Amino acid sequence: MVRLNEIKKQDGKVFLITGANSGLGYETSKFLLERGATVIMCCRDLLKGDKAKSKLLKDNFSGKIELLELDLADLKNIKKIAEFIKNKFNHLDVLINNAGIMAPPKTFSKQGFEIQFAVNHLAHMFLTLQLLPMLEEKNNSRVVTVTSGVQYFGKINWDDLQGNLKYDRWASYAQSKLANVMFGLELNSKLKARNSKTSSLLAHPGFARTNLQPKSVEANQSWQEEIAYKLMDPMFQSAKMGALPQITAATLPKAKGGEQYGPRFNFRGFPKICRNAPKALNQNSRIKLWEISEKLIRDI
Ligand SMILES: NC(=O)c1ccc[n+]([C@@H]2O[C@H](COP(=O)([O-])OP(=O)(O)OC[C@H]3O[C@@H](n4cnc5c(N)ncnc54)[C@H](OP(=O)(O)O)[C@@H]3O)[C@@H](O)[C@H]2O)c1
Repeated sequence: MVRLNEIKKQDGKVFLITGANSGLGYETSKFLLERGATVIMCCRDLLKGDKAKSKLLKDNFSGKIELLELDLADLKNIKKIAEFIKNKFNHLDVLINNAGIMAPPKTFSKQGFEIQFAVNHLAHMFLTLQLLPMLEEKNNSRVVTVTSGVQYFGKINWDDLQGNLKYDRWASYAQSKLANVMFGLELNSKLKARNSKTSSLLAHPGFARTNLQPKSVEANQSWQEEIAYKLMDPMFQSAKMGALPQITAATLPKAKGGEQYGPRFNFRGFPKICRNAPKALNQNSRIKLWEISEKLIRDI
């Protein structure tokens, strides 16, 4: 089990967090700011971002907040913001691919991709590839991709990746979270093969009380799911606890590329190294997904 006192001050380090205004992204920002880091908080809604920033500023921390508007449902916007980041900041230590959506009704990204595949997987892959040259200039830099316990049940539907023939919102969520692990591991293999200074790690929060579940209930108007979450509530841990695995992956000095951190008892508890989904260990599948995804983001 990881002890939080193993995580030292983060002065001078720059972290970029997607979905930083809410839930795990917010708690991760808070933890890092309290330890002196500069945190680039990327939020799709600047009003929500400003609100989160004002709340954070009430604490007397030594770090620095930079707030940026970033809509992961639009690959063109990602490209623009990545350019801005490369010009504005002289270095980047850690990218935390945290933002996510869970099981909405069928909707599409700006480029017409199924929204969970687009936001949870494709957008983070694209953002990472845009920022990788900057990350690779820094020693011990990291990419941390946030997945979920559903990675273990997820399946890549190769014949219908985006649910065009049949959309199952939960299967699509699980697929996107398995894709996160496949992407994170394949990125790590590629980085290792070229002796890069950057490594790629994974994290999952277990069950954490954030806006993820209420937003899903609202989008689907599902009273059954609302009741199910109420019944499950005692199993959920706080967002602060849920953020610890990704904080660990991002900052623990001894953490290594390819590792995944998750709660000690899988759904709750302090972080420990946990296993990557067995389906993500097959390199041929990882390369297949990488190549398909690369084609979809190539012409942006
Ligand atoms: N909470 C859990 O129990 C749990 C379990 C397993 C995995 N996870 C994973 O943890 C990560 C963080 O989720 P959370 O629980 O902290 O949920 P959350 O409170 O809903 O936060 C999700 C964040 O992602 C942002 N986001 C959604 N769509 C976006 C888009 N198109 N562009 C940019 N940002 C976007 C949200 O922005 P808005 O506020 O504007 O909507 C929000 O800031 C997700 O990847 C999720 O899959 C969570």
